[in-house]
Amino acid sequence: MLEKLAQILLFILPAYCANGAPVVGVRLIGRSTPLDRGARAWDGRRILGDGKTLEGLLMGVAMGTIAGLIIHSFIPGIYRSSLEPFMLSVGAMAGDLFGSFVKRRLGLERGRPAPGLDQLGFLAFALLFSIFTFGPPRWLDALTLILLVAVTAILHIGTNYLAYLLKLKAEPY
Ligand code: CTP
Ligand code: MG
Repeated sequence: MLEKLAQILLFILPAYCANGAPVVGVRLIGRSTPLDRGARAWDGRRILGDGKTLEGLLMGVAMGTIAGLIIHSFIPGIYRSSLEPFMLSVGAMAGDLFGSFVKRRLGLERGRPAPGLDQLGFLAFALLFSIFTFGPPRWLDALTLILLVAVTAILHIGTNYLAYLLKLKAEPY
C-alpha cells in the first residue's frame, strides 16, 4: 500500500515540479513576459493575466521533465516511456493555464483563489495528457484517484503556504 503510494507520487512528481517551478524560477531570473502579452478577451478582462508567463511555462516544463528523467533513470518502470515525464509536465502547465483562463472569465483577478481549480486543474490535465498518449496507467482505479486528489490538494495547500512564508508568493494559496 505504502509502496504503491510512493510509486504513484513518483509518477506524478513531474507535474508537481512543473507546477511549482515557476514560483521560484521567475523570481530567480527576475524577468517575466506575460503569455497573453496584456491582451484581453471578449469580456474585456485579461486572457490569462500577469501570473502566467513564458519564462514560468518554459521553466515548469523543463524542471518537471528533468525531475522525471532523473527518476526514470534510477527507477525504471515508474513511467511507460522517457517521454512520459514531458507529457505530464506539459499537461500540468496546460492545466494551470486553463485554470487561469477560467478564473479570468469568472472575473477573478490574478492571484485570487479558486478552490479546487487551483489545486487540481494541473493534476487533471497532467493525467489526461499522459492517458491520451500512453493509455490509462495500470495503477489507476477510482480509489487510487481519490487518494491522489486528496494528497495533491493537501500538498498544494502546504507548499503554497510554505512559499508564502518564504516570501516567494504574495498570497498563502
Ligand atoms: N508563474 C509564471 N508562469 C506560469 C505559471 C506561474 O510566471 N506559467 C508564476 C507567477 O509569478 C505566478 C506564480 O508563479 O504569480 C504562482 O502561480 P499561480 O498561483 O498559478 O498564479 P497566480 O499569480 O495565482 O495567478 P492566477 O490567478 O492566474 O492563478
Ligand atoms: Mg495562485
